[in-house]
Amino acid sequence: MVRAGTVVILAAGQGTRMKSDMPKVLHRLCGRTLLGWVLASARALAPERLIVVVGEGAEEVERVVRAEEDARGVQFVVQERRRGTGHAVQTAAPHLSAAPGPVVVLYGDMPLLSEASLAALVEAQGRSGTALLTAVPASARGFGRIVRADGERGPVRAIVEEKDATPAQRALREVNLGVYCFDKETLLRLLPRLKAENAQGELYLTDLIGLLVGEGGRPEACVLSDEREAIGVNTLAHLAEARAVLQERILERHLAAGVQIEDPATTFIDHGVEIGQRTRILPCTVIRTGVSIGAGCEVGPFTHLRGGTVLEDGAEIGNFTEAKKAYVGSGTKAKHLTYLGDVRIGRGTNIGAGTIVANYDGRLKHETVIGDGAFIGSGTVLVAPTKVGDGALTGAGAVVTRKEIPAGAVWVGIPARPIEKRRKAPGGEG
Ligand code: UD1
Ligand code: MG
Repeated sequence: MVRAGTVVILAAGQGTRMKSDMPKVLHRLCGRTLLGWVLASARALAPERLIVVVGEGAEEVERVVRAEEDARGVQFVVQERRRGTGHAVQTAAPHLSAAPGPVVVLYGDMPLLSEASLAALVEAQGRSGTALLTAVPASARGFGRIVRADGERGPVRAIVEEKDATPAQRALREVNLGVYCFDKETLLRLLPRLKAENAQGELYLTDLIGLLVGEGGRPEACVLSDEREAIGVNTLAHLAEARAVLQERILERHLAAGVQIEDPATTFIDHGVEIGQRTRILPCTVIRTGVSIGAGCEVGPFTHLRGGTVLEDGAEIGNFTEAKKAYVGSGTKAKHLTYLGDVRIGRGTNIGAGTIVANYDGRLKHETVIGDGAFIGSGTVLVAPTKVGDGALTGAGAVVTRKEIPAGAVWVGIPARPIEKRRKAPGGEG
């Protein structure tokens, strides 16, 4: 494995182009923040030190990342005034003197970089002293252009930002991805030499490349082969574009692991979802972060599974059914038009069409428990907190309001009440 000594992630920017009050790096793709995805890429290099430069909404960014990601050993450094990417690295510089090299710098808005590309970057740094990732995408997306000697083929001379570029430079097709690997001493020596003499009046990290070439250095550009890794997120349209690529990667991983996804184009599965083999996911299904699905289940079509939901092996959740924090025992079925909120359901239970577990009383959420082998009749409303015992049955349209139905009992009506009849041995319904 190729390793970096230190990784610095720049995540202080305002993200004005996102037209949103939220710090840019907290926008989500497939259930994970932009910064979360970048942190995961950084982790692939197993750095000894991991520094995140934060600024806009610094406290919130740190809190969210610590709550959701493996943030062990991550050091958050605050850039009070945002004066550019070079200034952001200058802010981290005092923490770099004692940190191990080489130093990889990543931007917090590049969520798609692969482990292989980052490893190639670090390897190139080992050969050349300084390395950067570039790509030749169909659209330059406003990225900085790579200026080379002898037209477009010679060694890298500089990076010029689109806003500062001459028309000829704008026509260059190789772009800077904002991913660099520096020898630590070189980085610390050149950083103080940055000047804000450019269109944006900022200290550009990209100018380090020109400075290095000026003193005889030969930075090496690693050109990405898959231009989809080059999607940086500066606008909501970019966010949607990057999300689609991440979604494809997530679905590919599940397919490779034996999950039968019938129509990937209409299936939305977030990051952080576990699914067992032979489970079938039918079209138009949305599965959010924090859902765990066993083997041989069936989900969809048109199903929405939300965080905290667990389906044990062989459970079936069908069309127009939403589940939130629902534990569904093995072989249990809820096939049509149902809401399962804050509920624990045992094994082999049948939840009839149109069942609603009403978990919210307008102020608080309450839990409902349904036992093994129960039969919930069509159109039942279970107002939480309610308990339905093993093998119990509710009649069609029953409204059970905060009651405990004993095992094997039959309750019907509005409000639901017991009737003498005991339930026949289960089986055959559906
Ligand atoms: C930057 C590069 C550009 C490259 C592109 C790739 C510079 C000057 N330009 O442009 O060459 O093609 O990324 O995505 O580096 N940030 C801070 N503090 C600041 C300013 C920015 O932490 O003061 C962070 C931002 O949060 C962001 C990253 O640095 O994560 C890049 O900043 P951004 O404003 O998005 O730069 P680009 O215009 O995309
Ligand atoms: Mg950017």
